Amino acid sequence: MREGPATVVHRQDYAAPAYWIRKVELCFDLDPVKTIVSSKLHIERNPAAEPQPLKLHGEDITVLRVMAAGESVSFRHEDKLLVIDNPPAGEQFVLEIRNTCSPEKNTQLSGLYTSGGGFFTQCEAEGFRRITYFLDRPDVMAVYTVTLRADKKKYPVLLSNGNLVEQGELDGGRHFAVWHDPFPKPSYLFALVAADLVCREQKIRTRAGKEHLLQVFVRRGDLGKTEHAMASLVASVVWDEARFGLPLDLERFMIVAVEDFNMGAMENKGLNIFNTKFVLASPATATDVDFAGIESVVGHEYFHNWTGNRITCRDWFQLSLKEGLTVFRDQEFSMDMAGSPSARAVKRIEDVRALRASQFPEDAGAMAHPVRPDSYAAIDNFYTATVYEKGSEVVRMMQTLVGREGFERGITLYFERHDGQAVTCDDFAQAIADANPGSELATRLESFKRWYSQAGTPRLKARGVYDAEARRYTLTLTQSALPSPGQPTKQPFVIPVLAALLGRDGRTLAAERLLVLDSAEQQFVFEDVDAEPVPSLLRGFSAPVILDDGLGDAELLTLLAHDSDAFNRWEAGQRLALARLLAAVEQAAPVTLDEAFVEAMRTVLRDPALDPAFKELALTLPSEGYVAEQLATFDPQRIHAVREHFREQLASTLHADWAEAFEANLVHEGYAPTPAQAGRRALANLALAMLCLHAVRSGNPVWPGRAYQRVKDASNMTDRIGALAALVHSHSELAEPALERFHAIAGGEPLVVDKWFALQAQASEPVGAGHGRSFARAKALLKHPDFSLKNPNRARSLIFQLCMNNPAAFHRADAAGYVFWAERLLEIDPINPQLAARLARVMDRWTALAEPYRSAAREALARVAAKPDLSDDVREVLGRALEAQQ
Ligand code: PHE
Ligand code: ZN
Repeated sequence: MREGPATVVHRQDYAAPAYWIRKVELCFDLDPVKTIVSSKLHIERNPAAEPQPLKLHGEDITVLRVMAAGESVSFRHEDKLLVIDNPPAGEQFVLEIRNTCSPEKNTQLSGLYTSGGGFFTQCEAEGFRRITYFLDRPDVMAVYTVTLRADKKKYPVLLSNGNLVEQGELDGGRHFAVWHDPFPKPSYLFALVAADLVCREQKIRTRAGKEHLLQVFVRRGDLGKTEHAMASLVASVVWDEARFGLPLDLERFMIVAVEDFNMGAMENKGLNIFNTKFVLASPATATDVDFAGIESVVGHEYFHNWTGNRITCRDWFQLSLKEGLTVFRDQEFSMDMAGSPSARAVKRIEDVRALRASQFPEDAGAMAHPVRPDSYAAIDNFYTATVYEKGSEVVRMMQTLVGREGFERGITLYFERHDGQAVTCDDFAQAIADANPGSELATRLESFKRWYSQAGTPRLKARGVYDAEARRYTLTLTQSALPSPGQPTKQPFVIPVLAALLGRDGRTLAAERLLVLDSAEQQFVFEDVDAEPVPSLLRGFSAPVILDDGLGDAELLTLLAHDSDAFNRWEAGQRLALARLLAAVEQAAPVTLDEAFVEAMRTVLRDPALDPAFKELALTLPSEGYVAEQLATFDPQRIHAVREHFREQLASTLHADWAEAFEANLVHEGYAPTPAQAGRRALANLALAMLCLHAVRSGNPVWPGRAYQRVKDASNMTDRIGALAALVHSHSELAEPALERFHAIAGGEPLVVDKWFALQAQASEPVGAGHGRSFARAKALLKHPDFSLKNPNRARSLIFQLCMNNPAAFHRADAAGYVFWAERLLEIDPINPQLAARLARVMDRWTALAEPYRSAAREALARVAAKPDLSDDVREVLGRALEAQQ
């Protein structure tokens, strides 16, 4: 932390390092208060670079001595660098450094830290420099040999990357282990763990016939909750080999769960470190969503072994090279695991919903940046929805443009060319295009790559004209893009539009085809069209754009009833709902839902041919955040009031159908986190929420009573928390005793207690009488003995849920929500700047707020930004937010 502006790093300034580090020998004497790190670096001059001093990164560590070529050498400190002005002459030399760090004091959770009495590391992006002095940049790749020494009783398990080559006893109750990783890797993939852990093991054979050991390490007592993580790991290994021909390249692959972790998980070579949230699951403690999250995160980290680790990023501006591609791979994995076409579509809908909920607002707000950013002050601020989720959509569009087989050829070429290297997003796109000469991608590669360089969500307008005589349908596609920070104008994007034509009766008039829009406006002609069609455009959400197809209710109802593309079918229902929500928000008086809409929803709910999972998605109204995104200025209270009112109407008009849906979708078999069972539970829980909502309004005690019973007796967490949520959001009198009951059942299990906090922080804010109750409750929970700011999961469960996912509780006319935000931010920043910077992002969209919220938000931002000791991370986010007002 420092005063004054942080240094901004620019993508254009990239230069290869003046020195390479080829081999690293590290030795750790682990102690929570003072750990001693001895490192031996085999350094090579880069002949392409001018002779210059050797500058090593180092942060919050203390140097004890430095020796070059066996002799002591003079050094100095400059900023956060250790500078050796006169390193030994010659092409190669060995540098030996000894330094200390204090894991116990490391509350940032970057570098070497303690959690639950053990040692863990997190090095991406720039944590390695908090362990020892190094060229801490991803294009410097070295082979590591690591010796760990620690007290044997307290830390019986000693792990690092690669293979265990030696272990044994030392004096004084200590022991040691030596690990060697044969693969050259950047420092951000280094990891060590020393803790009292137990592990689940499984052997697996790859196609080549080699046997590999898989291990999942957890705290004593948690072993029973590792089955799903292990099954997901096995499935990931099998999938990557089957789909992309990428086998496991290590003798041993380890996953370690840790309770204090800033992110979801980390792909350290051979030693993935995970937030417990993405490892531990039993039916009693984890929901269906948690089980699915574990599968996808285990897959994600495992897939990084090739896309990220074997081929890594040249610099951090290329982050999406590994993240966009790996998110794409984990999404494909989850879809393949889901199996049925309907379950695949459900996964796609969920992914798009998440993209719209987090990436679209990001792209429209103060922190908007291209998939490959141009500058940063703190790289940790760029682990964003844009780099990850939009990056994945960019990869998906490439697959759409070259076809699935073409894409697999592209991946093969990418590895042929770049295995073992640190490369750029351009290198990736080039490989996919080169493997598919003449393809829709190869012929437009340069313009396609604008997806990497231009921020903002493009708008796509589609208008069709039908000529009955010529039996011809002409579709005009137009694109435009709003300015984003630093990018006042944009060039056209290459937009793949999967399209089909339907008749009003639902039959297919033109089969699906790929239209590629690559200029501002283009026409596409469909011949031999029998009747005036309804266009089904952007099927499967074939590009991350905002579509305006001008379709009215009648056409959307046709798509909702008949589209063979499940994504567009869902989308049509959402559009019908959205149009009504937006119209109602405009009006001051309450709006009654029209019969046509209610009937369409009833038809979906009753349709025996539709999967419960799809029904649940179709019957869930667009979120308040999504509604807000459609408006130039929005009033969060108004949106909340309108949406709640609609929910109440759906609850009462479809009452009998909800009751039937609830009974019909109860799962009586033993719990399994399969898409089929999960879909039924999701629909039953939505039905129960609607039934409770209606019952509380009409004073009927039956459904709340049933929900309460379920909180007590449910055989799995999905049903238990679903019932609890139904009571809490409907403001039933039984919510209070149910919450108490739930807390007691949780028995202190951290991940379950997190849910208990999160649910209360998200509790729907009453409209009218009782307004402010949910905010007050969340605020009071800060004082709960189970609450702590130091554990990121816990801080997120209360504070982030309130500030990010409960707009009506947070955005208050009296600005108390913003005061709460500012206070928490200032408390968290000195403890954990990365976490604080994420909280700072809550204000990303403040300029779109209606008054009085807008002015109050600006005041809160300015007040926090005026504090002198802010971290670089927080300062960057607040700075950008305040710039957005011009
Ligand atoms: N690279 C990790 C992933 O995407 C995320 C991460 C980034 C974790 C930075 C920790 C720190 O899987
Ligand atoms: Zn990742």
